[in-house]
Amino acid sequence: MSKELLSTKSIDVLMKETTDTEHGLKRTLGPLNLTTLGVGAIIGAGIFVLTGQAAAQYAGPAIVLSFVISGIACAFAGLCYAEFASMIPIAGSAYTYAYATLGELIAWIIGWDLILEYLFGASTVAVGWSGYVVSFFKDFGINIPAYFSSAPIAFDSKLGWQMTGAFLNFPAMFIVALMTALLVIGIKESAGFNNIIVIIKVSVILLFIGFGIAFIHHSNWVPFIPKNTGEFGQFGWSGIFRGAGVIFFAYIGFDAVSTAAQEAKNPQKDMPIGILGSLSVSTILYILVALVLTGVVSYKQLLVPDPMAVGVDAAGPGLFWLRPLIKIGAIAGLSSVVLVMLLGQPRIFYSMAKDGLLPEKFATVHPKFRTPYITTIVTGTVAMIIAGLFPIGILGELVSIGTLLAFVIVCIGVLVLRYTKPDLHRPFKTPFLPWVPILGAVGSGAEMAALPGDTWLRLIIWMIIGLLIYFFYSRHHSKVRAALHSSN
Ligand code: ALA
Repeated sequence: MSKELLSTKSIDVLMKETTDTEHGLKRTLGPLNLTTLGVGAIIGAGIFVLTGQAAAQYAGPAIVLSFVISGIACAFAGLCYAEFASMIPIAGSAYTYAYATLGELIAWIIGWDLILEYLFGASTVAVGWSGYVVSFFKDFGINIPAYFSSAPIAFDSKLGWQMTGAFLNFPAMFIVALMTALLVIGIKESAGFNNIIVIIKVSVILLFIGFGIAFIHHSNWVPFIPKNTGEFGQFGWSGIFRGAGVIFFAYIGFDAVSTAAQEAKNPQKDMPIGILGSLSVSTILYILVALVLTGVVSYKQLLVPDPMAVGVDAAGPGLFWLRPLIKIGAIAGLSSVVLVMLLGQPRIFYSMAKDGLLPEKFATVHPKFRTPYITTIVTGTVAMIIAGLFPIGILGELVSIGTLLAFVIVCIGVLVLRYTKPDLHRPFKTPFLPWVPILGAVGSGAEMAALPGDTWLRLIIWMIIGLLIYFFYSRHHSKVRAALHSSN
C-alpha cells in the first residue's frame, strides 16, 4: 500500500504523452510570449495595492529591502522551477514534477494545494480589480454602491465570520467571467491579449518611475529604516521581514509560466527564460517603484487602496496627468493576472485528469479551440463564486500559504531527483546544489511560518478535504496504479 502511494510516473512516459500533438494542446508560445505571460501573472495587486500598505504598516521606506529579501527567496524557488520545467515540460507544473519524483500521494497533495494558488488567486486579484474599478468610476462621478461591489462575508480574528450586509461583489465576478470566456476561445488569442495588457501596465509603471524620480524628496527616506515601535513586525528589522512576508504575494505568478509548458514551442530552452526572465523584470520594477513611491510621499500616507495614485497626488500638479493612467494601468494589470491564473488552473486539472486522479471529463480538449474548455469553465465558475463572496485579505493569505507550500515541495523535489536520478537530461540546472533548493525550501517555509494561525487552519482543512477525495476517488482511478497492478 505505502509503495503504491509512493508510485512515481516515469519521465519517459510523461514525455511520450506530450508528443501526442494531434489531440493535445497546441504549441504556440515562444520565449517572449512566455516571459510576458509571467510578467502578466506577476505584476498586479501586490505592487498596485500591497506595497503602500506594507510600507505604511510595517517597513517604511525599507519596504525596498523587503522586496529584495522576498525577491531572493523567490529566485531560489524560481531556479528550481526552471530546472523542472525544462526537464519535464508538461502542463501540470509542480503537480507533474512531484508525480515524477516524490510519488502519487505528494503529487495529489500539491495538485490540490495549487488550487489555492491559481483558482483562489484569480478570485483574490478579481476582488482587487473590483476595488480599482469602483475607484476609477468614482473619479468620474459614477458611484457603484458597496452593496453590489463588496463581499457579503467577512472574517475578523476576534469576532469570527460575519455577514457584512452587502449582496455580492459583482465587478469581481464580471472580470472572472470575461477572462474565462477568453480562455475558452484559445491560448494564442489569450496570449495576444495578455501581451497588450502587459505593455500597458509596464508602461504605466515606467512612467511612474521615470517621472516620479524628479519629485523625490530625500527627507522622505530619512530614516530609511524607521525605529521599531517595540512590537515585533512594526518597523525596524522585524518590520522589514514581516513586510517581505506580506509582499511575497506580489511575486506569485512566475511559476504560472510552467503550467503552459505543453503549449511552448521549445519548452526545454524557453521555460527557464520565461520563468527567470519574468521574475527578474518584475523584481527590478518592484524595487524601483518602492524607492520612488516612498521618495515622493511619506510612507505614513500610504495606507490606502490606491497608493500609487496617492504618490502621484503628493508629487503635485506636475504629475496629475498620471493619476487616471495609473488606475487604467492597475485595472489592465490586474485583469492579466486573473487571466494567467485562470489559464494555469485548468492545465493542472487537465494533467490530473489525464492521470486518472480526477474524472476523465476534465481532460477534454475542445475540438475546435483546442483548449481544456470543460476545466476552464468549471474553474471560472468556482472562482467567480468565491470572488463574489469573500474579501481580499482572507483570500490573499490563503493564496500565499498555498503557493509557499508548492515552492517548498518543488525545491525538495529538485534535490531528491538530483540524487535519485542523477543522469537525467537537464537542459537547465539549478546552480550551487544543494544550497539553492535548501535555501528555497527553508525560505518559503519561514514565510509560511510567519502567516497567521487562522490561515494555517484553513490550509489544513483544505488538505483534509483533498485527502478524502484522494482516498475515496483518485487512488481507485489512478492510471499509474493500474499500470503497476497489471505489470505485477
Ligand atoms: N503577483 C500577483 C499580484 O500581485 C498575484 O497580483
